[in-house]
Amino acid sequence: MANDLRVNVITHPLVQHKLTLMRKKETGSKDFRELLEEIAMLMAYEITRDFPLEEVTVETPVAPCKAKMLTGKKVGLVPILRAGLGMVGGVVRMIPAAKVGHVGLYRDPETLKPVEYYCKLPGDVSERAFIVTDPMLATGGSASAALTLLKEKGAKSIILMCLVAAPEGVRLINEEHPDVPVYVASVDERLNERGYIVPGLGDAGDRIFGTL
Ligand code: PRP
Ligand code: URA
Repeated sequence: MANDLRVNVITHPLVQHKLTLMRKKETGSKDFRELLEEIAMLMAYEITRDFPLEEVTVETPVAPCKAKMLTGKKVGLVPILRAGLGMVGGVVRMIPAAKVGHVGLYRDPETLKPVEYYCKLPGDVSERAFIVTDPMLATGGSASAALTLLKEKGAKSIILMCLVAAPEGVRLINEEHPDVPVYVASVDERLNERGYIVPGLGDAGDRIFGTL
């Protein structure tokens, strides 16, 4: 991997094993969806490692107990439609209080530029810590456009969580959104002439929704 990239690669063995199963071309939609949700759950566990805690006192059936609870900003989860939807279930299993917004973007197959078609976010945008999800970070155009949109709507704190990235995509986010930490399970080799990640896992949206 190019060492100029600012990216957090989740190397946990369970994540890597499940990603390998997802890459296999014979893996069908049902398994692909389940694996993506499981990986999203494990990545959410890693990404939230530094979330602040406060001490509270609760009553156990036995005695009062000083214990820890999450404090700080409420979480907003924003999948980039369509494929980002496949990561929502796993993250909300870990952070059930998260509000879920949606940003609709598709990549024009000719220009590879993102085209926005939908945006619905929680009302209190500036008070939330956002996690933007999309399995694929290829040219980075879609994710960068989603991050710009969120910032225009008032978001102050954003993490980008993807499954597989190309170096080109990570570089674009580093350049255009240096304030946004990027988490992935793999940085692959490169993009091909059609803007697909090599080796990647193919078209994530089509594999999730069976629209191949
Ligand atoms: C895919 C993927 C990303 C985007 C990545 O979505 O889910 O959103 O391409 O490419 P980029 O980094 O070059 O912008 P796609 O446009 O195929 O839409 P879909 O999720 O509706 O299938
Ligand atoms: N979008 C995908 O779904 N896969 C890629 O490899 C690139 C963009």
